[in-house]
Amino acid sequence: MSLQGKKIIVGISGGIAAYKTLSLIRLLISNGAQVKVICTQNALQFVTVLTIESLSQNNVYYDTFGSRQMATEHVSHADWGDLFIVAPATANIIGKMAHGIADDALSTTLLTFRKHILIAPAMNVNMFENPVLQDNLQLLIKRGTVVLDPEYGFLACGTCGKGRMPEPETLLEAVRNALAGGDTAVMSQTNGILRGKKILVTAGATVENIDPVRYISNHSSGQMGVAIADKFAASGADVTLLLGKAQYKPQNSSVRVVETPTAELMHNAATKEWERTDVAVLAAAVADYRPAEIAASKIKKSGQTLTLQLEKTPDILAALGKSKHKGQTLIGFALETDNEVANAKKKLSEKNADVIVLNSLRDEGAGFNVQTNKVSFITSNSIEALPLKSKNEIANDIVRLVAERVK
Ligand code: PMT
Repeated sequence: MSLQGKKIIVGISGGIAAYKTLSLIRLLISNGAQVKVICTQNALQFVTVLTIESLSQNNVYYDTFGSRQMATEHVSHADWGDLFIVAPATANIIGKMAHGIADDALSTTLLTFRKHILIAPAMNVNMFENPVLQDNLQLLIKRGTVVLDPEYGFLACGTCGKGRMPEPETLLEAVRNALAGGDTAVMSQTNGILRGKKILVTAGATVENIDPVRYISNHSSGQMGVAIADKFAASGADVTLLLGKAQYKPQNSSVRVVETPTAELMHNAATKEWERTDVAVLAAAVADYRPAEIAASKIKKSGQTLTLQLEKTPDILAALGKSKHKGQTLIGFALETDNEVANAKKKLSEKNADVIVLNSLRDEGAGFNVQTNKVSFITSNSIEALPLKSKNEIANDIVRLVAERVK
């Protein structure tokens, strides 16, 4: 959904995650939205007025009595906006929102605002788990505020736990969903449900060398698989990502990344990890063939044609399927250009997978190097065709699918 013409109020309260909100503002603007920012005084310890005003192309409102012309700026801001997102939302602003305290520009405008309100709590894990904070969140949820659950990962205080503000792209998605009247609680549904589960994800393209200069590869950017790794990590799972050549890196610092540039290296790492893995999701585009020999020096240009002898690479999905034991879930992808469902079903049974995520290059906006994808979940007795969605949303759908199966 385009944000063209949408008016978004971004509230920033005083937490270290405020630096990420700067990227959110930039994303909102580049997606066509108009943005006004309201800060607490404490937020300005972390980000500056100048930076916010440059990015938002609007004045920042942080001093209730600062404007001589308009003493009712909180009312005019509230009337202006279509949606209000507070990111990061500290325990303090959450407490004020829950109990109707209006003692600064942000809390006063929030109390005046009558449309969609989204908040992204971000704080230390003990603070987040404190019953006072949780009660306040429940009060807000009951009144219609959308609470975007924080993610698991390393926190600024040096501990690891639930409390990280979601990445700006995820917040952008939540804004889009809220404005489209969609699934705004998407993160609340997945966060935490896979805590402690061991998840193996593959992503990106493998690279098979021909000589020291050239290689065989494909167009995979790694975005799909990296999004899956990030969403599983946000659910509290223990994620290992085997990453080939990719333009993307996980945002969640708790994802353990193992660089596996070739099919052989990815296969070796995957089979080693598999024994201690609960769920594997293989989204990498792995070369099926590689040069039988890698030339030691650059192959010189000579005749009109050049024949390369290729040999099969190890099939990772088949190898994991073969040694799969009870309790493990194996999810493969299938990238097809024709006879899509039949080919995907063949992969499902031949490789002993539990689910195949089918995407077709015949669908516009699907496959390689696009932000979106259109997939179907294929199991032995069902086909669930999903509409075109962002890769982040599909990653969330895969987490939900796994959570259902694990339950
Ligand atoms: O990275 P992006 O730009 O975001 O693009 C995403 C994607 C298009 C790469 C992704 O959505 C996708 O479809 N990944 C699988 C691509 C692929 O190689 O499909 P396949 O039908 O050839 O392979 C079927 C399955 O077997 C896949 O799970 C693949 O990881 C696996 N495989 C393939 C070959 C091999 N030697 N070993 C394998 O395990």
